[in-house]
This record gives sequence, C-alpha cells and structure tokens, in this order.
Amino acid sequence: MTEAPNPARMTPDPIAGLEGVVAATTMLSHVDGQKGVLILYGRHIEDLAGKLSFEEAVRHLWQDFQMPEASSLREAFGEARRAAFAVMPVLEAAPSSLGVYERMQLGLAALPMSTGLPDSIAISGALPVFLAASHRIARGQTPIAPDSTLETATDLLRMLTGALPPADHAAALNRYLVTILDHGLNASTFTARVIGSTQANLKQAVVGAMGALSGPLHGGAPGPVLDMIDAIGRPENAAAWIGEALARKERLMGFGHRIYRTRDPRADVLKAGLRLLGPENPKVRLAEEIEQAALAALKTAKPDRPLETNVEFYTAVLLDAIGIDRTLFTPLFAVGRTPGWCAHVLEQQETGKLIRPSSHYVGPSPA
Ligand code: ACO
Repeated sequence: MTEAPNPARMTPDPIAGLEGVVAATTMLSHVDGQKGVLILYGRHIEDLAGKLSFEEAVRHLWQDFQMPEASSLREAFGEARRAAFAVMPVLEAAPSSLGVYERMQLGLAALPMSTGLPDSIAISGALPVFLAASHRIARGQTPIAPDSTLETATDLLRMLTGALPPADHAAALNRYLVTILDHGLNASTFTARVIGSTQANLKQAVVGAMGALSGPLHGGAPGPVLDMIDAIGRPENAAAWIGEALARKERLMGFGHRIYRTRDPRADVLKAGLRLLGPENPKVRLAEEIEQAALAALKTAKPDRPLETNVEFYTAVLLDAIGIDRTLFTPLFAVGRTPGWCAHVLEQQETGKLIRPSSHYVGPSPA
C-alpha cells in the first residue's frame, strides 16, 4: 500500500469545484460577480441591510411561500425561540468537549417539529436560542430563557449577556443578519439543496448545510480574520506580516471569492454599519489599514487573479465592535443564513427532482 498520490488525482482537476456550472433555478437571490451586485428577491442588498429588521428581510425572501406577514413572523420567531428553550436539558447534558457550533447542531437534532409552526420558522427561530445557550454553557453559565416579545437580534444579544443590548448594537446585528441572509448557490446552500432534493426533512438539510458552512474557505473565515488583525497589531506591521504569510503560501482570510471578481458588496454594507457605531474604534482604523496592505500585496502576489475583500473581513470587525466573541462568528453566520437555506430547500423540493450529477472515472479498468 503506497501513500503516493495517484497522478490522475494530482492533475489540476477542472471540474472539481463545479466552477461556472449552473445547478439551480432560483427566485431567491442573484450574485453578479463581475459587477459586484447582490440581489435578494428583486431588491439590492444595500436596499435591505440597515433598512429592514431580520424578520422583515426574511419575510421579503420568503414571500413565495405560505408564511406569516412580517409582524406575525416576528411573533412566530418569538414562539419558536420559546419552543426551542425546551431542548435546553439536551444541550446542558452534552459532553463539555462539544463546541458551540456542534451543540447548536445537536439542539437542532433534538428539536421537536410538531409545535404547529412551519418547520422553517421552528428551525430559524431555534438557532439563536441554541447559540446563546451553548455559549453560556461553555462558560459555565446558565442559559437565559428567550423573551418572545423582542425581535430576534435584540433577544439574541440579551440571551448572550442577560442585559438588553444598546439599540445600536441590535441594529448592527440586524444589519449583519440581513446581509448574509442569502447568496446564490454557495457551498452550504448547495449542500442544503442536495439534501432537500432527496426529500429528507428540513432539519437534516440545515444540519448538513451547517457542516458545509463551518470550513475556513466558507463561513469559518471571520474568526481567523480577527486573529490576523490581532496578530498584526499595528498598521506599520501589516505589509511585512502579510508578505510573510503569502510567502508561506497561506491564504489571507477575508479576501478572494469564487464568484466576485470585484469587491463583495456585502463588505461595504457591513463597513457602513461600523460607521454608525459611534466614535471610531481604533481596531476599525487598523482593519482598514490592513485591508489596504492586503489588497496591494495580493495584487502583486496574484496579478492574474483579482482578489478583493469579501464579506468575512468586515463581518469580523463589525461583530467584534459590538462585543461578540470570535468563537461565535461562524455560529452567527449560520443563524443569519438558515432562512436562506430553508427557502432554497423548499424551492428545490418544489421541483421534485433529485440532485444527482455524474462523475468522470479516471481509475483503472477491470483486468
Ligand atoms: N489569499 C491568498 N491567495 C488566494 C486567496 C487568498 N485569500 N484566495 C485565492 N487565492 C489564490 C489561490 O491560492 C490560488 O492561487 P494559485 O492559482 O496560485 O494556486 C488562486 O488565488 C485561485 O484560488 P482558488 O482556490 O482556485 O479560487 P476559488 O475561487 O475557489 O477561491 C475562496 C475562493 C475559497 C473563497 C478563496 O478566495 C479563499 O480561500 N479565500 C480565503 C478564505 C475566505 O475568506 N473565505 C470566505 C469566503 S466568503 C464566504 O464563503 C462567505
């Protein structure tokens, strides 16, 4: 038995990443990678984030499905949070080795689906509760029960700390959750659609999509972005730190995108949110300097590949500025993206088609 890679596998594989393959028809969102445009059901992301609450934006995205109006959706999400709190004994009994993200997946697995709420609402409403409770359990604190009268962003922050958050923090979190609500056929959404296409239930699709989201090339990037900013520490260290990282062939987290060949519009939507958070935080200035140094270094290191700032860079800066622990960045991404995953699963299931592509066999022929 040899561990040497098979030459057939070593050859750059043009189909490995399905780049350029169109694999779904959707009403939900459109990403124009050349122009740097993101549309969610007919509206630009700049027209939604910072203007609508999370619930209002979800209602906008879900308008083709039989769902409550925005005000009732807020109530329904509140009811879903209350129902999810019943799962707390399962989360509290789980081994301490489980991280926040795995505990959220466990909570979903244990979530009863017969509460009378549509599954998309029961699941989307439950994840903020599981996130906050899992964070507190990991720190030896008691989970805080939801307040179903509040909107999701406010209650999520309250369930984390026990105190009602400042209005600008809740607004920033709303802006973040809306910004990441849906984004074409990204890896986790594709995963959700594949699972949904087997007519598996929505919980299975969301747990699987969470798995796809967790990797550092997708939703796992913002924690490492903040680690990078902290490691650089001062603007004058940026160019050298980045140069060394690129020389070691490392990827700079928060830069590059499969679809965008220009700046990810979500980066600017989040950056605009930072400006609303009062007197300038020194870390924001540092982040801006690091961003400029990174863009210049990437241009030199990869002249043929336009590598621009993606959503994760300012996700890290914005969430840090409102006091969210970096271990919660990917869990929060899952909270914001879940209604998008649910809508894609419903849309896929309406087609009645199983997703089952073919593969190109390069193994040996039978003797
Ligand atoms: N830093 C340095 N080099 C990079 C970066 C980066 N951030 N991104 C791509 N490259 C380089 C690759 O090393 C590769 O170089 P090579 O041709 O010399 O080998 C070239 O650019 C193309 O890279 P691919 O991986 O083929 O391009 P792809 O479109 O698949 O990459 C991806 C997209 C995975 C997001 C990539 O840009 C990356 O790894 N970025 C860093 C991680 C990150 O920020 N992820 C969050 C993305 S946004 C989201 O998912 C929510």
